[in-house]
Amino acid sequence: MTATAKQPTPTSEVEAPAHAQGLGDESSIWFQLSPLLKGKRDNPMHLLMEMAERYGPVIPINLANQRIVLLSEPEHFKYVLVNKADSYIKYFDGLKPIFGKSMITNDGALWQKIRMPQQPAFHPDMFAEYIPYFLAAIRTKMDIWSDIAKSGESVEMVEQTWTLAADMICKALFDRDMPFNPHFVFKCVKTYTDVMNHKEIRLKKQAGELFEVSEEDPAKAMEAWASVPPLVMAANPREERERTLLKMIEAAVADPNMPEFDQQQAVDEIKQYLWAGTETTALTLAWALYETARNPEAAERIRKEGEAVYGDREPTAADYSALAYTRAIIQETMRLYPPVWGLIRVATEHDEIAGKAIRPGDRVVIFSYGAHHNPRFWEAPEEFRPERWMAGAAKKQVKYSYLPFGGGKRSCIGGAMSQVENTLALSLLLRRFRPEYVGSDPAGINATVTLTPKGGLHFKIRELS
Ligand code: HEM
Repeated sequence: MTATAKQPTPTSEVEAPAHAQGLGDESSIWFQLSPLLKGKRDNPMHLLMEMAERYGPVIPINLANQRIVLLSEPEHFKYVLVNKADSYIKYFDGLKPIFGKSMITNDGALWQKIRMPQQPAFHPDMFAEYIPYFLAAIRTKMDIWSDIAKSGESVEMVEQTWTLAADMICKALFDRDMPFNPHFVFKCVKTYTDVMNHKEIRLKKQAGELFEVSEEDPAKAMEAWASVPPLVMAANPREERERTLLKMIEAAVADPNMPEFDQQQAVDEIKQYLWAGTETTALTLAWALYETARNPEAAERIRKEGEAVYGDREPTAADYSALAYTRAIIQETMRLYPPVWGLIRVATEHDEIAGKAIRPGDRVVIFSYGAHHNPRFWEAPEEFRPERWMAGAAKKQVKYSYLPFGGGKRSCIGGAMSQVENTLALSLLLRRFRPEYVGSDPAGINATVTLTPKGGLHFKIRELS
């Protein structure tokens, strides 16, 4: 990192201990929703869908000291995300230890100022430059899978794809080889995002019970997480590339016209990318491997497409465009399993949606998963049908009924890039391997901050001859 006159802004938000803002604090929406979402069901999303069917598209729910309003109609999604975006701002209680004060947590002029210098790194023109680095990370993963296939051991796929996605981000966006153990970091993140984990530890503390401070402790996990960005910054560049996201962040820190973009901002932006760009991409790829394992004809079609498009050479940006079926698999996976199952906003003023009063402070949940599974918008919504994304068919979709990357000005900065990563990874991995799903069928869902498989997705890896 270049030397800079700017110092980190010491705000209480940044420096408060992780447990003080835990996801499992009683005031956190995640904690309050957890009894609804945990239950004994294999898919807690069904409960929210049943509620929407029974009580209509706008449901105010009174929970302890706050109100949650569940929205499930695309036109209301658009209203909140686009038409009245400035009256419904970001909600990040409990996620501060993951994201710090990075752009994803900000609003208004400050958000715009932080996003602007980083935006060029995500322009589609950059993808061709990134592809060799995505491929390098995929090759490393293939070597690991080859050893796993020989040993016959089983693997948990989200951990496998998480470590791959982290490697792709580090290589392509930061010009670094991962200077940390991604499996350890993965476990830290999972420890923190499991809301019930916080609850158990808090209850033990309240009851005066002794508990061992170990890697099970979310606060400890977040200390380890906070140490990752400085490692990335201090690591040696792989190639001294000039046009990388890290270089853009460094330039913003050095820019005297951007006093807000201090050293701590840089640390937090890196944190944000390592979570937002890794967790979501990894879940999508893991669910795609699960679906293709259950639909062998889809896996075979992916192999044939790869063979026809790039054969025995390395795929290029033009090849990515030609991998229409593999891309459709990724799109359909994100419809069935949107990693971000709901977007949360806080209302800043009195309003009304479909005749229901919205009060300042209400937590508004845009229930994207519900829209993705609604038979009014999708034929046979529970079926895995990648064909619905092929030539022309996608045009018939109802606007805002598909929101894997959110919508409006706050939509995902890296969505298009993640499609390139996942399409290439799926194509290459399936051409060399046959991942065999060995977990419970169907896999259960654990909805916390993201839509994760309950107990993970367990696979055996077979290498094709
Ligand atoms: C399958 C992959 C991905 C999914 C499903 C996904 C999903 C999302 C969603 C839904 C949002 C909007 C959240 C909201 O409105 O509250 C978002 C924002 C964001 N995503 Fe992604 N994302 C993915 C990949 C990535 C990648 C690869 C990166 C970067 C390397 C990234 C970085 C971000 C950032 C920085 C934001 C905040 C943008 C802002 O507030 O201006 N995401 N993502």
